[in-house]
Amino acid sequence: MTVAAPEPKVNMGNPVPRYDAVVKVTGRATYASDMPLANPAYAYLVTSAIAKGRVESFDLAGANRVRGVIDIVTHENGPKLKELKLYSNGGYAGTTIQPLRSADIAHDGQIIAVVIAESYEAAREAANRVKVSYTAVVPSATFDSPGTTTAAAKGQNSQFKEDPQVGNFAKAFEDAEVKLTASYDTPTQHHNPMELFSTSCAWIGDNLVIYEPSQYVYGLKNGVAEQLGIDADKVRVVNPYVGGGFGSRGSMTPRTAIIAAIARRLNRPIKLVPTRDQGFTIATYRAETRHEIKLGASRDGKLVALRHEGAEVSSRPDPYCVGGTKTTTRLYACPNVDSLVSIVRADRNTPGFMRSPPEVPYLFALESAMDELAVKLNMDPVELRRINDTTNEPIGGKPYTSRSLMACFDEAAKAFGWSQRSPEPKSMADGDWLIGYGCAATCYPTQMGPSAARVRLQRDGRTRVEIAGHEIGTGAYTIIAQTASERLGVPLEKVAVFVGDSELPPAPVAGGSNSTASTCSAVMMVCDQIRQRLFKAMMPNQSLTDRAKETVGIGQTPATRAAKSDRSLDLEKAFDALGAGVVEEYGEWKPEDAPPDSFQAMHSGHVRLVGGHSLKDKIAYAFGAEFVEVRVNRFTHEIRAPRLVGAFAAGRIMNPRTARSQLMGGLIWGMSSALLEATEIDQRTARYVNDNFADYLVPVNADVPGVEVILLSEQDDHINPAGAKGLGELANVGTNAAVCNAIYHATGQRIRKLPVRLENIE
Ligand code: MOS
Repeated sequence: MTVAAPEPKVNMGNPVPRYDAVVKVTGRATYASDMPLANPAYAYLVTSAIAKGRVESFDLAGANRVRGVIDIVTHENGPKLKELKLYSNGGYAGTTIQPLRSADIAHDGQIIAVVIAESYEAAREAANRVKVSYTAVVPSATFDSPGTTTAAAKGQNSQFKEDPQVGNFAKAFEDAEVKLTASYDTPTQHHNPMELFSTSCAWIGDNLVIYEPSQYVYGLKNGVAEQLGIDADKVRVVNPYVGGGFGSRGSMTPRTAIIAAIARRLNRPIKLVPTRDQGFTIATYRAETRHEIKLGASRDGKLVALRHEGAEVSSRPDPYCVGGTKTTTRLYACPNVDSLVSIVRADRNTPGFMRSPPEVPYLFALESAMDELAVKLNMDPVELRRINDTTNEPIGGKPYTSRSLMACFDEAAKAFGWSQRSPEPKSMADGDWLIGYGCAATCYPTQMGPSAARVRLQRDGRTRVEIAGHEIGTGAYTIIAQTASERLGVPLEKVAVFVGDSELPPAPVAGGSNSTASTCSAVMMVCDQIRQRLFKAMMPNQSLTDRAKETVGIGQTPATRAAKSDRSLDLEKAFDALGAGVVEEYGEWKPEDAPPDSFQAMHSGHVRLVGGHSLKDKIAYAFGAEFVEVRVNRFTHEIRAPRLVGAFAAGRIMNPRTARSQLMGGLIWGMSSALLEATEIDQRTARYVNDNFADYLVPVNADVPGVEVILLSEQDDHINPAGAKGLGELANVGTNAAVCNAIYHATGQRIRKLPVRLENIE
């Protein structure tokens, strides 16, 4: 079946097919572990079977008898690496728990030994024969486990700067005509990208090449160099394709430097491909969260008081938290707001970014509570959002740069057929199936980071764009090529794009949905430098007007497309005037409000994104609305979600096809987080139980028969030169609440704990 590409509307680019489509569908895309290595040895990890305690001894006799074993590395003979620093404390690492440093075990599945052998099979066989004696201590698994400690996030996590507050919540809530207090829970989830957490390392003299799926090649390069105590210029990270990230590859995990150090010691390239279950404990994950929401409103639906209290689990040493109150306290107009985020320390691996990290759990709580409030008010939930829509965020009063929330609600409602809904719960059915309609809002901060690019234009129009961005399956190659093609007026097929290599000019982490805004803004700027050089060559005595910038030498820009047909002629004239074979420009772009040391941070892999509520005089978010139909079987309580409809506005849409694919993926993640995805933790042992694709449920096509994405036109000149708001994580937010709101409508049962399974329906 072929699906027609979406028609572009105002402020949208062409829906060109994926730049990397053919190599991907023909299996020719080289992922990190596909990279050829000369005479590699193979590594296999041995991971801890207990969550807390220490290794007393290893019995390696059986393992060493396996033919082909080269070395078994443990804390007793392991490489001496520098300490890890958490990325939020000026380091690169997603955890400070460093394996193989001592006998101590801080979490289940911690790396305790690495077996190196002539083949993968030999390494695996030997790893399975490693016998470990432990002294185990009873671990704290999660919320309510004995031995956990709880403290406010503010003050312990340097990324979490405020518990937003305004007005007098207590008094306003007390006096409110209508009140709601409700608690919500979200589960542990694991990223589970298709590509495993592989690492291949090869030394060429003093220089290290790392092939590893990464969402931040500059961070990984600098982080590994720091841990090994070598110059960052000696480390190169390469990954032209990344098989999904979901946040798991934004910060450095401990395995890479260990593998690099062993490769150096053995003077041999090493390839590590850990197993699916090891991925649950050697990388990060989304921690479980708890929320209490209090809403106070007037009878006519105006919010007068809002309080959001959240708690999140983290590891013993690392104060990771997502702190989504920065968003939930600013989404709706409300004069009296209070919030508090706490971190609960347990004996777990350190959590980290996962798919819209703050907004997914925190908006689940808020958007469920808004639906509950609408029921209390006997009001349409869309109207409740309209009444509380705002142009300025309520905490600091800053204006949203653009906000199409209600336009999204209206478009999605129309496409969904919301007006056919009879509001009474359990009032709609089809045979044995109760039907429910639900909706929710989404928003996601528009974030950006400093980014550099190098662009080379040849006389015949061939163009090469180099930028250390990342293709994690989102369409980065495609939109970077489109940006250069449009800006230089060269045909798309003449543009070659190079990403995923730390030898290229730096770009930020491919996270926080910033990549399009950051990389396209940099590429646009550098293409303009090329225009200026050509212009000066052709018209040395004229100063550069804006119009000239748009037209010089190049035919196929928006301004000149209609007027000029033979663009190659213009280019040749310009090159003749310049007297050069190629024009190459390098440039560094940084967003408004970026700190003064931004470029330095960019080169050393320390990019901090700016945007969202942290901008000085404004607040920038993308918005959307999701509508979901669920069907709940009266007898079996089976829950299906046959229709997901979302409308989204995210500034300039560079490519409606890739944008739709990302938003579709987001809607599916959101449904999945409502009904499927959860990591089960054994409360006694603090171990993940369902660490495989048979038991960790992810959606398949049959789970999502109908997904509709509507893109709204939106122009925002206050965010970045590309005019783009990120949308990779947008549709994932709120959809879980929309599903639960639909389940309430179908069954009359309000379920406040995710995921919702058939046993949760009474
Ligand atoms: Mo994402 S969780 O911003 O990689």
